[in-house]
Amino acid sequence: MTIKFSASALNQRFSLWPFTCLLFGLFLTTHETLITAQENQTVWDGIYTTEQAERGEKVYQDECTFCHLDDLQGDSFATPLIEDAFTTRWNGSNIADFMTVIQITMPADRPATLSDEAVAEVVAFILQMNEYPAGDQELEADFSVHKEVLFTNPD
Ligand code: HEC
Repeated sequence: MTIKFSASALNQRFSLWPFTCLLFGLFLTTHETLITAQENQTVWDGIYTTEQAERGEKVYQDECTFCHLDDLQGDSFATPLIEDAFTTRWNGSNIADFMTVIQITMPADRPATLSDEAVAEVVAFILQMNEYPAGDQELEADFSVHKEVLFTNPD
């Protein structure tokens, strides 16, 4: 009796899955569209400070130069972090994802060893090297607040 009951409960749960997923998917899509429509902060809005980029230069030299080189062009393995190869790759992505990728996967030889602050600093430096303007507010170390800040190409 008990077994029969729980088997059918399980069955019911499973049959609802596609519907739940669909609803969730719809929610995400609508949510995303609304956010993009409302907020359009981009890398051109001065999202880091010069001082922060200076600290980031130190982080870069200690942690990244070895593979991405002083001019950020990268070696044959490490991706360029500057110019067209970089801006094309990240165009349309948000800063939160960029920070997360660095925090989780870099430095490639010892990933996830940088603090969130160090990631924010090194990102400020990379932004500066790509000639996105500095502003008067530091890039916050809390990645999640940068979900709506987009990389865009100049008009
Ligand atoms: C030991 C070598 C090494 C070091 C040190 C290193 N990287 Fe990398 N990095 C790589 C390689 C190799 C790739 C390409 C990985 C791939 O294509 O999967 C890469 C890719 C990247 C990418 C592109 C990821 C993507 O998905 O497009 C970014 C951004 C990046 N590195 C940032 C950094 C930063 C910032 C530092 C310093 C904190 C750093 N890396 C240190 C080797 C390194």
